[in-house]
Parts: sequence; structure tokens; C-alpha cells
Amino acid sequence: MAKKTEPIPGTSDIFPDEAAEWQFLEHTAHEIFQRYGYGELRTPSMERTAVFEKGIGGETDVVQKEMYTFEDRGGRSLTLRPEGTAGVMRALVNAGIAQGDEKRVFYIGPMFRGERPAAGRKRQFHQIGVECVGTIAPEIDVETIEMLLRYLDTIGLGDSKLKVNSRGTIADRPHIQETLTAYFRDHLADMCEDCQRRIDTNVWRILDCKNEACGAIVLGSPPITDLLDAESGDFFKRVCERLDLLELDYTVDPRLVRGLDYYEHTVFEVSFDGIGAQNALVGGGRYSIQVPGSNKPVLGTGFAMGIERLILARQELGISTSQQEGLDAYLVSIGEEALAANLQLARSLRDCGLRVGMDLQARGTKAQMRTANKVNATVAIIRGEDELARNIVNCKNLAASEQHEIAVDELPDKLNEILGKA
Ligand code: HAM
Repeated sequence: MAKKTEPIPGTSDIFPDEAAEWQFLEHTAHEIFQRYGYGELRTPSMERTAVFEKGIGGETDVVQKEMYTFEDRGGRSLTLRPEGTAGVMRALVNAGIAQGDEKRVFYIGPMFRGERPAAGRKRQFHQIGVECVGTIAPEIDVETIEMLLRYLDTIGLGDSKLKVNSRGTIADRPHIQETLTAYFRDHLADMCEDCQRRIDTNVWRILDCKNEACGAIVLGSPPITDLLDAESGDFFKRVCERLDLLELDYTVDPRLVRGLDYYEHTVFEVSFDGIGAQNALVGGGRYSIQVPGSNKPVLGTGFAMGIERLILARQELGISTSQQEGLDAYLVSIGEEALAANLQLARSLRDCGLRVGMDLQARGTKAQMRTANKVNATVAIIRGEDELARNIVNCKNLAASEQHEIAVDELPDKLNEILGKA
């Protein structure tokens, strides 16, 4: 039985030694996305349920089965965001900047989906995402993909696989849908129960069914790229030509549709072998999103990647960023008076940018020295009555086991010398 102190299934605590890896992935995203003119947008973790129902599409698995939806005390239906795009579009519409000029934003934060927890599949997971609205040319899809690949390369995941496809536009849908429905109807008896229902409710979802029998039938279905009208076909051709121009590595997967219904034209996915069944690191594409309270859909392009899966992929390659270890100095106080003086000393050393710890409980000297070693301090700074009277400290280099007397006012400079920061 799970311990009562464990986080609920599908969620995790992230401790400081792991947090360094998260910070690296997040800082790198800030740095790279800003080079392309993206600024950070932070939206709430919960929204009115309609933002997702309307934005993502009522027939998607995310909306039908996975959302954490609840009624608040005012009787409003709210949902913990299962993804970032719909809320970002709501925010841009609300700020009056969704139409017209181009707007580029990125976001980093927790998302919530009630899926069965597995390796790489969590109920609270974290996405780094970008959205660019207001530019409709195929070139923005290409620039977004180029930025994504630059990011992956920078974090050591340059060997991931990129697949692209087009879903066409709303105008293409009836024809593609009819062709797919006719094909799948011929195989209905061999397909899973979900797909037998999907054929009438949303035939596109059959294309990403994870059931083995359905997967084999999907492989024989008509490629979407053959069913696009001239305009959508040209749009996709331009995307591929420009990807070639930039010498980006990709394959066309003509049956890639992705699990969210807002996509139009380009869709893409990046996967990484070796991290188990949940191997999609990134999902993205061009979309047209309905925002409740606005009659015009927002058009944009973007992607989101799961931080947990990026970390799994980096672990698989043996890469990780570890926390800067230990403290620069640990102050050991012998007696009440030294403890009070060390409170002041710790403050002034921290003013100089040093990482300082100290014992605050007036424990015995041996116990304090044990802690200094345990927290991996470079030096222990020891003061008792005698040192206070002479205005010096005893500075013990814990690795070298050397001890020197240092005058208190020379301490910051001498410490920087010892720490190689001078
Ligand atoms: P998505 O494909 O649903 O797309 O999710 C993007 C990424 O989030 C996935 O590739 C995966 O890395 C991560 N992810 C999704 N679900 C889970 C989970 N349960 N546990 C761990 N990681 C997960 C979107 O969310 C779109 N909003 C992407 C987008 C942005 N399209 C255009 N703009």
C-alpha cells in the first residue's frame, strides 16, 4: 500500500538535486526562444472548462476522458489545464492582441491529464511550449521547427526523429473524412470498440489509436497527403521545400494527425527511441482555435514538449546537469557569543555572494564539524571566545585538512582565493 506521505499517483516531488536539470532545460528555452523574438507568457493553471472544450475539441481523448474538471464554490465549471495552447489563445484574445500583428510567446509550466500513469506518462507533467499567432505563411511553421531542432540539439537531443504531415484545412475535412470513413468501414469488425465508435464521431482519432490491430489497419489507409486539395497541397509542399532549404532532417508521415482537433495544415511530432512506449518528446503544428466569447478563431503555429520526457531521453544518453555541490563555507560557533557574531558574519559573507551555512542550535563542536562535512562545505570557519577576542577566525580547508588563522576583515578576499574565485 502507498505511504500516506507519497505524492498522489502520476505526480512527483522534484528535489534540489533534480531541479538543476529542470532549470537547465528551462533556461536554455528562455535563451533560445528569445533569439527568435519570443517572450514569456504565464497564464493560470485553471481555466473555464469551455476554453478547452471549444479550443481542443469535444471529441478528443483529452476533453472526453482526461480533464480534471470540477465545480467551484460559485458553481462554475473549471478545469486544470491539460495543455497550454487553448489558455494562451484565451489570454491573447482577452488582451486584444490575437488578431492582426504577429505575437510570439512561450510558456513553461504544469499541465494535468487524468491518464494511466506509466514511464513518461504523468497526471501532472510539465511543458515548455511556444505559440506564434498572426503569421500565416508556411515559413513560420518552418522557422518554428528550426527553432525546436536548435533547442533539442543544444540540450543534447539532436538525434531525435522529426515527422511532419498536413491535416489540410476545414475545406479538406469532409472529403478526407469520407475517404477515411469508407476505408475503415470495410475493416470495422477487426477494430477496437473505441474505433468502432470513432468512425461515426471522429474518424481522425482512429489514425492515432494505440491498439495493435487498429495500427495494422491504419497502415493500409489512404495517405492524407494524397487527399489534400490544391491549396493545402501547395502549403505543405512549401513547408517541405523550406525544411529542405534549411537542411533540416525530417520524414513525412502521411498518417500523422495528432490527438488535438485544432490543427490545420502542418502537424509535427518529435520522438526519441529508448525511453519506452511514451516516446513523443514534442507535438506541434498549425492551428485554428475557437475561444469562448470570440467569434473569430485564432490562427497560429506552435509546439510543446514534455520536460519529464526530455529528462528521460537525456538520462538514456547519460547526460544530466547536476546541482552546484555543497556550500562555500560552514560557520562553527563555540559558545553563545560566537553564535551571535557568526550570524552577522554569515550575513556579510552572503552579501559578498558566498554560499554560507551555519549551526543555529549551539550544538557541540564535533557535531557542527560533522555537519560541515556532510553539507560538502569547502571550508569550516571556527570561532570561539579566543578568536572573537583576537578578531580572527580559524579557517579549516576540509578537503586538504589544513587550518589557518585569518583576520575577520580579510576573510572575504582570503575565502575567494581559497575557493578559486579571486
Ligand atoms: P501534446 O502532443 O498533447 O500537444 O503534448 C505535447 C507534449 O507534452 C508531448 O509530446 C509529451 O512530451 C508531453 N506530454 C503530453 N502528455 C503527457 C503526459 N501525460 N505525461 C508526460 N508528458 C506528456 C500539446 O499539448 C499541444 N498544446 C502542443 C502545441 C502547442 N501545438 C501547438 N502549439
